[in-house]
Amino acid sequence: MMAVEMNVFYVTTPIYYPNAPPHIGHAYTSVFADVLARFNRLIGNNVFFLTGNDEHGLKIQRVAEKAGKHPKEFVDEMASVYREYWRTLGISYDHFIRTTDPYHEKAVKEAFSYIHGKGLIYKAKYSGMYCVDCEKYYSPGEYIEVDGKPHCPIHNKPLEYLEEETYYFKLSEFKDYLLDILENKDVVYPQQYAREVASKIRNEGLRDVSVARPVERVGWGIPVPFDDKYVIYVWFDALMNYLSGVGYPDDKERLQLYWSNAHHVIGKDILWFHTAVWFSILKALDLPPPRRVIVHSYLINRGLKIGKSAGNVISIEELVSRYNGSDGVRYLLARIFNTDKDSEVSFELLDSIYNSELADTYGNLARRVGTLSMKKMNGKVYRRSVDKAVADLVATHVGAYIDSMKNYEVSKALEHAMEIARYANQYVNESKPWEKPNPSKELYTLLELIRAATILLHPVIPSASLKLASSFGFEIENPLNIRLEGVERYTVVEAPILFRKVQVERQGVGVGTT
Ligand code: MSP
Repeated sequence: MMAVEMNVFYVTTPIYYPNAPPHIGHAYTSVFADVLARFNRLIGNNVFFLTGNDEHGLKIQRVAEKAGKHPKEFVDEMASVYREYWRTLGISYDHFIRTTDPYHEKAVKEAFSYIHGKGLIYKAKYSGMYCVDCEKYYSPGEYIEVDGKPHCPIHNKPLEYLEEETYYFKLSEFKDYLLDILENKDVVYPQQYAREVASKIRNEGLRDVSVARPVERVGWGIPVPFDDKYVIYVWFDALMNYLSGVGYPDDKERLQLYWSNAHHVIGKDILWFHTAVWFSILKALDLPPPRRVIVHSYLINRGLKIGKSAGNVISIEELVSRYNGSDGVRYLLARIFNTDKDSEVSFELLDSIYNSELADTYGNLARRVGTLSMKKMNGKVYRRSVDKAVADLVATHVGAYIDSMKNYEVSKALEHAMEIARYANQYVNESKPWEKPNPSKELYTLLELIRAATILLHPVIPSASLKLASSFGFEIENPLNIRLEGVERYTVVEAPILFRKVQVERQGVGVGTT
């Protein structure tokens, strides 16, 4: 058993299929993981944030063919496209992994051979259905029928029939092990997803799973190290990124350090792979399960999961231009983040959250108080005593924010930051600093409230918060250390408009209608 280093925080996103550029759904996961990474850095943890692309398999092979490119050329181009999107959205990953990276390929081969060596991978015939969009085998009962033909329940497309010799992984051996983790250990968050997987295993049992494809069917993959007629199944390859990204197999120290506190952020579509399949592979490699698998639900539009197949994609560009750059988009995605319920997104909803919370409550407050500080105090606001009631209110919200963040409840954490801003708005209206000849106590109190809210918002709106901190002359510090009367003097040099209001043109215009 590995020692748990609590000050380490290893967080991952799924590695995305680069068959198309990322959209709002991918951004949703990546922004959430980024907020966790930034929060953990801010409270002083040793964070490693891994994201990347899942570049092998039939799906990629086919889109590359269609584009008239070699798959490697195609995925190389797409890797730059993804990196650029994540740069635009301020995703502060420490490493961008690609499954075509040589160190990753080596790790996958080594793991495959190791498990084979233990007798847990064997050769046998497979016949059944396959969805290329999911890169997943479907057994009867798992797929739907449309006009009497098997279809993928997620993509609603006909499944392909496969009949081939393949390598199987003995998933069935891990039934008791998996049920113990799912039913007794706190790994899957929220727990309802653990129950879901456990009851599937209890009701349907566990079948061994294919972990290879014949090379003449799928050429684009990592060869099975001891049989070059096969390539390793894309999901075995992909899941291994979480280990190869932190040093497996050679750098045992690094692996041990980060694996002891690994957090996988995933959508519920890939829950089975990240629990039943992944925990078993890890066990076969003599490794414990991750510390947490944090599962979120779908962003939906007009009732359907947003995605390329459904044709209801909302582009990241559209969001960035509408919501004043990346911070606005990050805030909205974090604010609607939901682990259990699917969230229907429309511009109407996003506009209203953006305008009321970011533009009015927070942005306008900062602008007003900044302007008043410059007008009334020439920008210099010295320390005054802050009323106990104010200090208590801030302490309560800061505490609740930290608890929520530690429980991955980012949206709830944001509400606490907004409560401080709401209180400050009330305070400014009631104390009317513009009517007073020397409103230094009022303005100092307000600046302290803004500072507290800004620090709490920093993991979500990193650029705007830094801009405000430098305009007002304070530091973004560890939220655990926020104490009012902490700043000796504010030097307000600018009262920026952080979030310009969005013009709501027509009511009820849904996204994806164009
Ligand atoms: N390549 C696999 C993952 C391998 S991880 C070892 C894959 N890639 S994917 O490109 O299809 O991305 C799936 C993930 O994108 C989901 O799990 C989720 O995190 C995110 N989402 C894509 N569309 C989404 C929504 N409409 N709503 C919420 N999340 C969405 O699966």
